[in-house]
Amino acid sequence: MSEQFSHITVLLDEAVNALAMRPAGCYVDGTFGRGGHSRLILKQLDESGRLLGFDKDPLAIATGLELQQQDPRFSIVQRSFAEMDAELQQRQLLTAVDGVLLDLGVSSPQLDDAERGFSFMHDGPLDMRMNPAEGISAAQWVAEVSAEEMARVFKEYGEERFAKRMANAVVARRQLQPFTRTADLAAVLTEANPAWEKGKNPATRAFQGMRIHLNNELADLEQGLEAALASLKVGGRLVVISFHSLEDRIVKQFMRRLAKGEADQMPRHLPIIPEKFDPILKVIGKPQYAGADELKANPRARSAVMRVAEKLR
Ligand SMILES: C[S@@+](CC[C@H](N)C(=O)[O-])C[C@H]1O[C@@H](n2cnc3c(N)ncnc32)[C@H](O)[C@@H]1O
Repeated sequence: MSEQFSHITVLLDEAVNALAMRPAGCYVDGTFGRGGHSRLILKQLDESGRLLGFDKDPLAIATGLELQQQDPRFSIVQRSFAEMDAELQQRQLLTAVDGVLLDLGVSSPQLDDAERGFSFMHDGPLDMRMNPAEGISAAQWVAEVSAEEMARVFKEYGEERFAKRMANAVVARRQLQPFTRTADLAAVLTEANPAWEKGKNPATRAFQGMRIHLNNELADLEQGLEAALASLKVGGRLVVISFHSLEDRIVKQFMRRLAKGEADQMPRHLPIIPEKFDPILKVIGKPQYAGADELKANPRARSAVMRVAEKLR
């Protein structure tokens, strides 16, 4: 597919190694993007191996459909990874999965293509949806939401300290003229932000907050982790790459909770711990980060952190 924008895959070898690939296995790439991880997974599968890709984004799906035509071991679905268990159930593959990969967030083409409306750097229509056919655009949200809710989104999902002040500035301006373009909104946010952080555009945090909110990213992640667990077979691997602390906290807490088991909640006098209180996951290794060479080639890898777990029962 000839496309003007490309995506450099983050932690490519590390993530696929962490899946501990079985050549005849069945794998899920929950965030297909442009298929960087998927292509390497396919290389390590034999004729009987299978890979199912998910993405919300129509351009990612277009790339996935091309790959599906070339490679009968691969299929792509336009659906949230939060619903992978339902999709796998339909395909009679629930609990047959050897590994699930989630490489969270947005792809470079989504950020770099001004027309997608994610970017405060390149002016475009204010949209920000991974799937523009679902939900509401950023323009509609900015036009309709209360100042309190806007401030909550900037603060909770963008970790913006000056959320209230910035939301009030946006609400005051929208009464005079609605926002339709990313650069216009970024300019108002920038002016309302009293403390610019070094090396960071002053609209970054508010834009991140809106993107996470409009795409339901954190709720999808929570549901997606449960769905991945339900989909894996015993011994299957879950590999998750996060790009900010809100995501990583959810992944870390999920893995820790299930790795701990509930044996400590059992009455002490019981001689045998019933199986249902045993850990469900085992955490594999330490969190991994991009190395110096990768960071040089791809600055977007700087905030990536990868966590790995294995299903025990
Ligand atoms: C960082 S990119 C993945 C890049 C991919 N690993 C590659 O090498 O090309 C994240 C992708 O996940 C998709 N995405 C994010 N959240 C999703 C969700 N809940 N369900 C399905 N796709 C999602 C985005 O549309 C984007 O294409």
